[in-house]
Amino acid sequence: MLFINKIILFLTLVLLISNHSTNKVTATRQIKQIKTNKIITDTQPKAPVLLIPGFGGSKIEAKLTDFKSKHWYCHSNKDWFLLWVSLDMFIPVVADCSIEYISLDWDGKNPQSQEGTEFRVVSGVDGVVYLDPTIHFENYYLNLVNKLKKEGYQENLDLFAAPYDFRLSPKNLTLYFNQLINLVEYSSKIDNKKVNFVCHSMGCKMTTFFLTQQTQEWKDTYVEQLIAIAPAIGGAFEGLRSVLFGNNFGDGLMSNKAFQGLALTWPGIYFNIPYDQKLWTAPIAVSNNKNYYSTNQDYHQLFTDLGLPEKSHQILDYVWDDNQNIKNPNVKLQILYGYGSKTHYQVVFKDKKLSGSVEYVDTSGDGVLLEELVLNYCKEWTDNTSVSCKGFKGVTHQDLVSNKDVISSIMNLIKEQ
Ligand SMILES: *[C@@H]1O[C@H](CO)[C@@H](O)[C@H](O)[C@H]1NC(C)=O
Ligand SMILES: *[C@@H]1O[C@H](CO)[C@@H](O)[C@H](O)[C@H]1NC(C)=O
Repeated sequence: MLFINKIILFLTLVLLISNHSTNKVTATRQIKQIKTNKIITDTQPKAPVLLIPGFGGSKIEAKLTDFKSKHWYCHSNKDWFLLWVSLDMFIPVVADCSIEYISLDWDGKNPQSQEGTEFRVVSGVDGVVYLDPTIHFENYYLNLVNKLKKEGYQENLDLFAAPYDFRLSPKNLTLYFNQLINLVEYSSKIDNKKVNFVCHSMGCKMTTFFLTQQTQEWKDTYVEQLIAIAPAIGGAFEGLRSVLFGNNFGDGLMSNKAFQGLALTWPGIYFNIPYDQKLWTAPIAVSNNKNYYSTNQDYHQLFTDLGLPEKSHQILDYVWDDNQNIKNPNVKLQILYGYGSKTHYQVVFKDKKLSGSVEYVDTSGDGVLLEELVLNYCKEWTDNTSVSCKGFKGVTHQDLVSNKDVISSIMNLIKEQ
């Protein structure tokens, strides 16, 4: 009986997904994967776990067709290959090419892929188990996935992942969000159990955005809980730092300058800039004659004072509306966060000209996310739903995902329901 149900569900999913004919490639891949891995099983499926990665946490493949590079040594034609991330990408000369391929154009209104490039995100759990240097090479959700599998979870039966193109902001992720609806409904219906979302960092902002858009009825039907690891829902100072100075997330593999070239073209980075003045009460930047707060207006001023290109102003506005669409997700929310590590929250310009040296002001957090900010959600979002928060002393933003204690908390939360 279970078996037949699953086949019917599978066919439904095919139909649902094939309605979105605009991105056949991604849809077909997702379907194929589900088809090959599921259907026959003796185990009783558990309540599904759905992993949503953070910034840089998805694998991106690229294809080049008559790509016109600025460099003679880059490819102009190449069939699908893993671009983000392979270690090769950071070998000096190769890096010039990778950066060129993966950067986006800005046509004055929308982000566009470079002419001659196509991209697709590696779907499924495979796409999120190991990762890129910004989140520790070779191991992202790997420990958690291993633990889940040890406890009997099976990919595409009760364990799923929903990676996305993190270069983009919600405006360009409509298809992804539609597929996410299908995936949640599909996985929930396999054995009539609600879905446990597990997100990290920017992935939690995406998930919150997604849940804000769904009806309460839909959420009550399909969502068991949102387990948010280091949720950067209000943005993160490091996002701003990437735009202003090309901060490469503390990793030496790509120079700050090279990374800034990328960051300036990626709406996804701007989507990580702190935006909520209720949460960021202190100025985010301070110069001799001005305090800049986390408002749209002050960011424009700051970009102008720093001489950032015109497109950075436009991309800022492009993602800014989406911040207004992030509200209390109104689902059971479990926040797991780190504290006790030095975390920047303000940049101080030492010279009158902002081009001079800078200093950072620190407070407690996980190295990226402020403790105070997380605690605000724990206080503010308790109206309609239960919110519980658990802190892990000295565990940093990236390490939270693979930390043993965090993983055992996640396992408990999943079992408790
Ligand atoms: C983003 O969306 C806009 C508007 O639909 C579209 O013109 C553009 O090609 C998209 N960009 C990418 C990189 O998908
Ligand atoms: C709680 O639910 C009510 C009614 O659905 C809604 O109006 C209100 O905005 C919700 N509160 C929060 C913080 O989302």
